[in-house]
Amino acid sequence: MKNSSTQAAKRDSFASSFGVLVAMAGSAVGLGNLWRFPYLVGENGGAAFILIYLGFVVLAGLPVMLAEFIIGRRSQSSARSAFQKLAPGSHWGIVGVLGVICCVFIISFYSVVGGWCTEYLFKAVRFDFTDGSPESLKTMFSSFSTSTWLPIINHTVFLVLTAGVVIAGVQNGIEKFSKVMMPLLFLIIIGIAVRSMTLPGSGPGISFLFRPDWSKVTSQTFLAALGQAFFSLSLGSCMVVTYASYVKKDAKIISLSTQTAAADTVFAILAGCAIMPAVFAFGISPGEGPDLVFVTLPHIFSQMPVGGVIAILFFLALLLAALTSSISMLEVIVAFCIEEFKMKRKVAVALVFFFIWVLGCLCSLSMGPLSSWKVLGKNIFDLFDFISADFLMLIGGLLIVVFAGWKLGKKVVFDEVTNGGTHHVPAWLLKTMLFLIRYVAPAALLAIAIFQIHE
Ligand code: PFF
Repeated sequence: MKNSSTQAAKRDSFASSFGVLVAMAGSAVGLGNLWRFPYLVGENGGAAFILIYLGFVVLAGLPVMLAEFIIGRRSQSSARSAFQKLAPGSHWGIVGVLGVICCVFIISFYSVVGGWCTEYLFKAVRFDFTDGSPESLKTMFSSFSTSTWLPIINHTVFLVLTAGVVIAGVQNGIEKFSKVMMPLLFLIIIGIAVRSMTLPGSGPGISFLFRPDWSKVTSQTFLAALGQAFFSLSLGSCMVVTYASYVKKDAKIISLSTQTAAADTVFAILAGCAIMPAVFAFGISPGEGPDLVFVTLPHIFSQMPVGGVIAILFFLALLLAALTSSISMLEVIVAFCIEEFKMKRKVAVALVFFFIWVLGCLCSLSMGPLSSWKVLGKNIFDLFDFISADFLMLIGGLLIVVFAGWKLGKKVVFDEVTNGGTHHVPAWLLKTMLFLIRYVAPAALLAIAIFQIHE
């Protein structure tokens, strides 16, 4: 299908349900799973954090994902116009605009980390980690990430790759890319998990992942788990609304949402299994924080038999995971520009690329030369992360479930998930789903929001 600047009639769409699933899972599975999840698990008591996280995925994540699916598929429109179409004459379109803004903030710092992945893949291919002591690897990472040009060059490469896929459109770009890359990504991570879990001394790492230590759990753990669930499932940013708008009318949205959430969660646990057993096997503390992936792991790879190859595979996986996610964020912003400003796809991609590139450069420089520029005590990189993941995604998620559950209401929700009554969904499932959308998810999100304001 040809891409178009005009809407509706020539609107691009996914070709198959498998295509939708891999694209959605591609967005969900990203740095959040391979970089953020393992270090949060490490810092927050292992299995205890995982259990709380799973609870939030079911009670808050799934209902918001379903609500976004319903809004996107029913409206067949991009973020803002989806709300406007379903609630004409109201101010609900603002929720879509917030989603687009959220994606702008996330992709700006995300593409900087994506650039770190391209650099580290390059280093892995050159076997740069082979004789790395922890100190020299730490210096390697901090001198790279705080320098001026190299991170910006890598950030540019990463954004060019992202834009290259988005410019090709939904079916020819995003769907085709995800269909090849997602299975490859799963295979690589399963391979590394097997290697890591069979290392001598990996036992304590495995029990760290599966035996909860409740003494590490504080109120902050709950906030971190909910924020992570939203970040990992790409919720509250209208990403699901945008992708669901390309989903055909006969697709089964309850199973697509559940499968996406399940794939993302399985992937996060697999990432934990790939990383933690090795961390323990080499006697390293699991609470290394954000340095885990770029400092601790290269050290572990340097000690491991066939570690050089594992390092290449790991950084390739990290790069692919980051790419399929950044593609989805760029698509949210590009689809918005195409529909709101009637731009051609190519023009929209070029303009958005330039805008994000500039913001990303600021994020990158805020690690080094601009580190003294602080707002709310945070540099630009951390500020963008905080505004999007700790604030906009949660507020967005709350407004989205309230919109679906109360503004659209029971009739529309049931109509959409049963494809106009043509697809049978058991009554108990419909009722449970509506209860989660109307009461449980808003209550969980409100509780966390109030708690955060009090902190
Ligand atoms: N879910 C992605 C990850 O785990 O890395 C991050 C993300 C992608 C957030 C797309 C928001 C979004 F719209």
